[in-house]
Amino acid sequence: MKIRVLGSAAGGGFPQWNWYCADCRGVRAGKASLQRRTQSSIAVSADGDRWTLVNASPDILQQFQHFAGTWPTEGLRGCGIESVVLVDAQIDHTTGLYMLREKGSPWPIWSTDPVFEDLTRGNPILHLLEHYCGVARQPIPLDGRSFHPQGAARLNWRAMPLLSAAPPYSPHRGNPVPGDNIGLTIIDPASGRRVFYAPGLAEVDDAVFDAMRSADCVMVDGTFWTDDEMISLGLSKKRARDIGHLAQSGPGGMIEQLARLPRHVRRVLIHINNTNPILDDSSAERTALTAAGIEVAFDGMEITL
Ligand code: MLT
Ligand code: MN
Repeated sequence: MKIRVLGSAAGGGFPQWNWYCADCRGVRAGKASLQRRTQSSIAVSADGDRWTLVNASPDILQQFQHFAGTWPTEGLRGCGIESVVLVDAQIDHTTGLYMLREKGSPWPIWSTDPVFEDLTRGNPILHLLEHYCGVARQPIPLDGRSFHPQGAARLNWRAMPLLSAAPPYSPHRGNPVPGDNIGLTIIDPASGRRVFYAPGLAEVDDAVFDAMRSADCVMVDGTFWTDDEMISLGLSKKRARDIGHLAQSGPGGMIEQLARLPRHVRRVLIHINNTNPILDDSSAERTALTAAGIEVAFDGMEITL
C-alpha cells in the first residue's frame, strides 16, 4: 500500500495568508529549516496506480499539479483518483470538492451520515455539485465493517468514530455526534500491513489506542504543540481540545500517547497548524519529537507499507 501526503498543514496552510508570525515570515523569506505546506489531504493506493483521495483540500489543484498519480493517462480526460473519502466536514477537508466539478460522471464520495448532513445543510456543497458532475453518495459504516472505496478498493478500509469536533457551521458543533469525525484504519489484505489515519483527534481513548497499537504506521493529529496555543497568542478563547485536537506536549498529550505504542510502529504527525513550533526543523520542539522517534509529515511525503 502506498500513501502520498498531498497536504500536511491544518486549515489555513503554512504560511497562512494573513499571518505575520516569525515562522510565517521565515518561510516567506526562504529560511532553510522551514517549508511551505498545503492543507490537509492524503491519497492512498494499493498498487501505486489507482488512488483514493482522503479529504479534498482547498489547495487540491496545486496538490494535483505536483502529484503525477492524479494525472490523466488516456483518452481526453481522466484522473488517477477514483473516489473521495471524507473524515469530517471541515472546510479544509471538503472545499476542494468544488475544484473537482469538471468530472464527466458523478464522484463517488464516501462519508458518514453526520458529515453527509453537514454537507447537504450547513454547507450544502454536495447539492451544489449536482449542478456539475453530480455525487454518488457512499455511506461509511461506523461499526467497524470494511468498506472499499473506488481506486484503492483492494484494501480494507475501516472507520471508527473519534472524539473531535464538527465544523463551526455545523448544527451540532457544540453537541458532537458519532461520525462527525472518524479515524481510518486501512489494511492491505495481501501483506496484513495497516495504517491508522486521524488528522483530527481530541482524545486517545482505549478503542483509538487499540487501533493505533495494531497499526504499522500512525498518521495522527499534529495541529498544536500546546493545549492553550491559540489562547496564549491572544487569538481565541478555545483550547486545542475544545476544537477537536489533542496537543503534543503536556500530560496525556500526543507525545505521551505515542510513547505507549510498540516500538515498531512508525509515528507521523500530520495536519500541522501554522502556530506550531514543530514546523521549524531547527526548533527545540522538533528536536524533542525527533528524539522521541516522531516524524512530521510534509507535502509530497510517500509512505509504502
Ligand atoms: C480544524 O481541523 O480544526 C480545521 O483545520 C479548522 C479550519 O479548517 O479552519
Ligand atoms: Mn482541519
